[in-house]
Amino acid sequence: MIPESQIRAQLPHTLREIDLPDLGQLYRGKVRDNYGRGDRIVMVTTDRISAFDHVLGTIPFKGEVLSRLTLFWFDKVKDIAPTHLLDSPDPSVMVVKKAKALPVEIVIRGYITGSLWRDYQAEKAGAYGIEWPRGLRKDQRFDEAIITPSTKAEYGKHDEPISEKEILAQRLVTPEVWREATQVAKRLFARGQEWASSRGLILVDTKYEMGIADGKLTVIDEIHTPDSSRYWVASGYEDRFARGVDQEMLDKENVRQWLIKEHGFSGHGKPPALTDDVRVMLASKYIEVFEKLTGQAFESKVGDVAVRIRQNLKAKGYL
Ligand SMILES: Nc1ncnc2c1ncn2[C@@H]1O[C@H](COP(=O)(O)OP(=O)(O)OP(=O)(O)O)[C@@H](O)[C@H]1O
Ligand SMILES: [Mg+2]
Repeated sequence: MIPESQIRAQLPHTLREIDLPDLGQLYRGKVRDNYGRGDRIVMVTTDRISAFDHVLGTIPFKGEVLSRLTLFWFDKVKDIAPTHLLDSPDPSVMVVKKAKALPVEIVIRGYITGSLWRDYQAEKAGAYGIEWPRGLRKDQRFDEAIITPSTKAEYGKHDEPISEKEILAQRLVTPEVWREATQVAKRLFARGQEWASSRGLILVDTKYEMGIADGKLTVIDEIHTPDSSRYWVASGYEDRFARGVDQEMLDKENVRQWLIKEHGFSGHGKPPALTDDVRVMLASKYIEVFEKLTGQAFESKVGDVAVRIRQNLKAKGYL
């Protein structure tokens, strides 16, 4: 594990955003700076962190961890469905096929926790059109993974829960594509859970984005990262579940919990500034999950990320 002093030393060098107008039209998401031209997008995963749909600041090495983990997972699942990946000229950059994105995100869950647990407890989990069994406990495993889709809101708006029935009734996705997308999601998630389990982790839930590229249903965006997924440490699960205490989490939930517990912030009003300690804490969780999943040591140089990206893009002929 990279020493904490190195994570701290990276604090002033994180990548907030990058201007690469020569690469095409910019679409700046909460986390990625996407430069699109023709049928490809140069997708730069910055170090920005968002929670409750607010961009809070940056986390050292985060863009690199997310991008490298997505590459790792794309390789692990390439027999299940095509992915949008074309090239990765820098550890924080993927060049991808532009897809026509489905207007829904496919969230799939192996356990009841997080927002679903809060909604279930408050008897507000009806929007998914699922008959929830009674008497579930926080962090309990489902017998079978459950898909709880959400709409893909435009920039600045919140994604909303939606049922399969509504997706089809509103013709957001055709029945054929929906059937294929949910089957692919189940297979991806099973593969992810199996691998995570072999590495001492639980892949709790995750979110997939899919689109149509070259006429085929394609996995786009990121997969199985600690931004888009929950990961728990497997060894303590049963004991913690039995005692009713929170699981050991290696994902973005750590910063959500900090926001809620230290600042009472859960999305309304102005978010608090992240302290350097919480930035370092989250970076070390992300690096830990990277190392556990890949079995590789995370090595990266302290230094300006934007400078490195420009150098790599030049060397590979993109700039
Ligand atoms: N292959 C692709 N083709 C088209 N769009 C894609 C592709 N892969 C990812 N995207 C889109 O690019 C954007 C990636 O940026 P980012 O992850 O920062 O966005 P976000 O904050 O999650 O979402 P939002 O777009 O709501 O801000 C997302 O809107 C995602 O849906
Ligand atoms: Mg995203």
